[in-house]
Amino acid sequence: MRIGIISDIHSNLESFERALFYFEKNKIDKLIICGDVIGYGPDPERCINLAENFAEVILRGNHEEGIINKEFIRFKEYARISLEWTIKEINEKIEKIKGWKEIEKMEDIIFVHASLTDIFYKYILKLKDAEEEFEKLEGKICFVGHTHIPGGFIKKIENGKIEKIISDFSGKMEIEIKEDFKYIINVGSVGFPRDGFPFVCVSIYDTDRRFFKLDRIEYDYKKTIQKIIEKGLPSKIGSLLKGF
Ligand SMILES: [Fe+2]
Repeated sequence: MRIGIISDIHSNLESFERALFYFEKNKIDKLIICGDVIGYGPDPERCINLAENFAEVILRGNHEEGIINKEFIRFKEYARISLEWTIKEINEKIEKIKGWKEIEKMEDIIFVHASLTDIFYKYILKLKDAEEEFEKLEGKICFVGHTHIPGGFIKKIENGKIEKIISDFSGKMEIEIKEDFKYIINVGSVGFPRDGFPFVCVSIYDTDRRFFKLDRIEYDYKKTIQKIIEKGLPSKIGSLLKGF
């Protein structure tokens, strides 16, 4: 089975449409979204509709939690302003978002927005963070998003040694899943990458070949930035979308 895995679309319609086109071309059996469909960007409603139409599973991220609970203290100012704007745009959809899952399990794979120890908020950035996660990981692979930076961690089961997985010079990754290791894999962000490349992150995990691939694709980010300006959203969001 080929599972398409994406995260952190952040109301960026142009990038999301490119991701869906990629999956159409590269044939997947199901699509899983690891949270943060909304927040930051200018097209929350259309992104929710597309996610509902194309994904088999949509997880809630911290931005969905913020909207549901109307609590923004943990967000930076530009994120908070965008969430307050988003609430007004998607008012009737909030009940639907409440029905999205926190966690998805599929045989020895688990999907969550941020981490196993703190589902919505913890950033797995350092080896120490990963160590706590691996302790909680019963299966083989945990797929996450949240940091907007593709990468991950690998742990050798025999001796407990943990190492960082980093993307290549163009922000892409290929990982062959091996028998005696466990993995935490961050699938990056569709609509708001923070690793310096303004390209959509799209991933496919092939469960038969035990092979994971994360690709990067260009999209018309200038169009998204134009919409951010037109809708009066914080200009900081537009400048972050350029990736440099
Ligand atoms: Fe996010």
